[in-house]
Amino acid sequence: MYDRRKFISFLGKASLGVATLPPFLTSCGNTTTPSEKFKQIDEKNLKRLKDLVIENLTASDQDDLLLANGLNYHTIIKWGNKISDSDSFGFNNDFTCFIPLDENNPNDGLLWVNHEYTNPLFVSDFNHGQYDNPKEHRTIDQVDKEMYSVGGSIVRVKQENGKWKVVQNDSHNRRLTAQTPISLNWDYDVEGKNTVIGTHSNCSGGITPWNTFLTCEENYDSFFGETVYDENNNPSHTPSMYGWEVFYNYPPEHYGWVVEIDPKNGSAQKHIALGRCAHECCTLYELEDKRVVAYTGDDKNDQHLYKFISSTPGSLKEGTLYVADTDNGKWLSLDWESQPILREKFKDQTEVLIRVREAAKLLGATELNRPEDIEIDPITGHILVALTNNYGKNDFHGSILKVEEKDGKFDALTFKASTYLAGGEENGFTCPDNLAFDLSGNLWFTSDMSGSKMNKEDGPYMPFKNNSLFVVPRYGKDEGKVIRVASAPRDAELTGPWFSPDGKTLFLSVQHPGEQTTDLKSPTSTWPFDEDGIPKPAVVAITGDLIEKMNQLRQIES
Ligand code: FEO
Ligand code: CA
Ligand code: CA
Repeated sequence: MYDRRKFISFLGKASLGVATLPPFLTSCGNTTTPSEKFKQIDEKNLKRLKDLVIENLTASDQDDLLLANGLNYHTIIKWGNKISDSDSFGFNNDFTCFIPLDENNPNDGLLWVNHEYTNPLFVSDFNHGQYDNPKEHRTIDQVDKEMYSVGGSIVRVKQENGKWKVVQNDSHNRRLTAQTPISLNWDYDVEGKNTVIGTHSNCSGGITPWNTFLTCEENYDSFFGETVYDENNNPSHTPSMYGWEVFYNYPPEHYGWVVEIDPKNGSAQKHIALGRCAHECCTLYELEDKRVVAYTGDDKNDQHLYKFISSTPGSLKEGTLYVADTDNGKWLSLDWESQPILREKFKDQTEVLIRVREAAKLLGATELNRPEDIEIDPITGHILVALTNNYGKNDFHGSILKVEEKDGKFDALTFKASTYLAGGEENGFTCPDNLAFDLSGNLWFTSDMSGSKMNKEDGPYMPFKNNSLFVVPRYGKDEGKVIRVASAPRDAELTGPWFSPDGKTLFLSVQHPGEQTTDLKSPTSTWPFDEDGIPKPAVVAITGDLIEKMNQLRQIES
């Protein structure tokens, strides 16, 4: 029997909150009675939600984390904090995901945090800007520090007296880094290995129905470069930006995958069947027969949206990967066996998956403007995909794409695509990135203007000032409007929004404050205002009256 509570924690960011049982749930087979732990929805709750007044913050370039009335925050953990005697929290935190240890207690659990990339100026005392050929001036110690700063962290966190705190030295606390051995969930080797070294470029992610974390390797080519092929299919290596391959000869093919982490013991595996690209995220949906559907986007200009449908229950290996033709509403199979055009170019399915971008283009997949985060609307079942921007196509403000699967079936091979929200000054937002639904079905999302382009008089982003967090209320007078509820410190991006299971906390990452700093003595940000004056990426907990009211349509009885 489907456990509704599990369904809710599995959706996590997209928890269910509905006034009536929506067709989306009945059509996907989730017809079990809502848990008695959930407060009944009544007209009073709905009316209160409709009457809610939400302050729309004005855009700000202030170096602080500013919040709308009714919200406050405290810092849970920041870069460099010890999590155990042997490990410390990594740099540039992105995706966050919370899983309670006991599903009856939403205040004690494991927080997974991605550490996407590094900044040598802060992490390894190396100033790239000082050298014409920075890679010639590096030491292996510096590279090792950088490799330790990325990957992910598992930390046990508990809420006591309204504040979330890390449980120091808890046995679950651990790091995964660019030097952690990770197995491949595949029957064949990739570049001669079935276990590879490390994960990095961990941008956004997801959660599985069996309560493990997914972390996605996005801009992997920054660290070990990329293998590119000429017109005669001859490979060559394009060097990376960070130059780690000068010290560690790891093949680029070992990165660019969706990685699954078991929170209980930290064991990890890379899912080859989901293809290799700049995965932003991976959003899973469990079908009635326990097969899973995984949506993932390739965050690069003119790249694609993918969907994997498993053929056996709970598998992220057995099944078929598809790529979206959004012009014609078709999922195109990337199966080597049944696609002659793929058989002609690639030697086997493994090669198709390693070079999935080329395979997608051969099939005629639609070029998209940098697909970022993906969430399933818990009320309509529509799939929302943030398309952040594409300067090459003069799309500076991006949009949110809506995908409606045929008959609401997630394993359908046809769909309808349309624009859900378009970025731009008139709509009050630009460059949408991470998405999250709360318990009432309100949509929250963050923006990601590039640090080098923000707050520039002659650029397209001047009116938006610092990156922000927005909410789109589902009910009431502000229904459908985009309201700014948080403004990030200078140069920072707000990432990884994730609601606690009771909807009372929004976990949020503040990533790369002060990223434009070139001299540590005069950083462009000093958030979170430590004595040393050095800016630090950190994970915060946002709580308060407004969050509780936004989530009031359906809350867990405490
Ligand atoms: Fe790492 Fe696509 O943002
Ligand atoms: Ca992102
Ligand atoms: Ca982004």
